[in-house]
Amino acid sequence: MSIPIVRTFAELRSIVAPWHRDGLKVAVVPTMGALHEGHLSLVRAALEQADRVIVTLFVNPKQFNNAADLAAYPRTEHEDAAKLAPLGAHMLYAPDGPEMYPDGFATTVSVAGTSEGLCGTYRPGHFDGVATVVTKLFLQTGADLAFFGEKDFQQLHVVRRMVRDLDLPVEIVACPTVREEDGLAMSSRNLRLSSAQRQAAPKLAEILFATAEQLAAGAPAQDVFAEARQIILSAGYREVEYLELRADDDLSPLEAAECPARLLVAVWLGDVRLIDNVRVRPKQGTAEVVAPAAAA
Ligand code: PAJ
Repeated sequence: MSIPIVRTFAELRSIVAPWHRDGLKVAVVPTMGALHEGHLSLVRAALEQADRVIVTLFVNPKQFNNAADLAAYPRTEHEDAAKLAPLGAHMLYAPDGPEMYPDGFATTVSVAGTSEGLCGTYRPGHFDGVATVVTKLFLQTGADLAFFGEKDFQQLHVVRRMVRDLDLPVEIVACPTVREEDGLAMSSRNLRLSSAQRQAAPKLAEILFATAEQLAAGAPAQDVFAEARQIILSAGYREVEYLELRADDDLSPLEAAECPARLLVAVWLGDVRLIDNVRVRPKQGTAEVVAPAAAA
């Protein structure tokens, strides 16, 4: 079993145009490769809701604000294709840099507001890079549906805002975060953790869920954050970039979970940056936190 790998926009268009002409529902799952169960859950969801599923693999240089991070990003195309084929995805679109950004490329898509704060503070230009490449992928594929993970919660909001603002004819479908059995959110960056770091890593999700429970029960954010930061650092994490409570629907900052909310975190474990988030759903004083869903 294999999956066609397409390298150019011209070839992509020649395959996709007949799909659109025949009225087939086309879905796109944008990725940067090093595929894991989190990515595959998006592909499975796409296959359930669309007739044709295009998975894209492009390690987008415009969204890396750090050259070392870009250089260290895992590249495993062969294995990625082998994971996708048995699922029945219809195409892996894997253009190279010059195909995506030919000489003279000069346009940036920038989503104000949503791109600011959280990761936007620590990765300047990151969401401009994401918005630019995602716009191109939507236009190139002409997809009716596009699947994104809640793992990158701010990214999901940026993409949704952009689609609304630019009237892009694509429906964004959000899928829940897939976790390892020990709670660690799956991420391509987990491959870069040493075995000692990998052992320490699940502590983050544990603290996040415990903190979310306190918030769901009505505790003020600032009261619980100081202790949570301390526990994260004593678990072996080098730095907590941010730990914040935001509204689930528009990411506005919250001081307590008076409405459906998200607890979002970014940390450094050695030289690996990890992000995670959990939902906080206040329920008349009793905690209701969505438990981590381990991969099948
Ligand atoms: P990447 O990090 O490869 O992620 C691709 C998609 O998989 C994103 O929508 C992300 O939220 C989702 N994903 C990653 N880990 C997940 C997990 N544990 N559970 C569920 N979904 C998960 O995000 C990007 O690439 C890029 O920014 C991209 C959108 C492709 C633009 O370059």
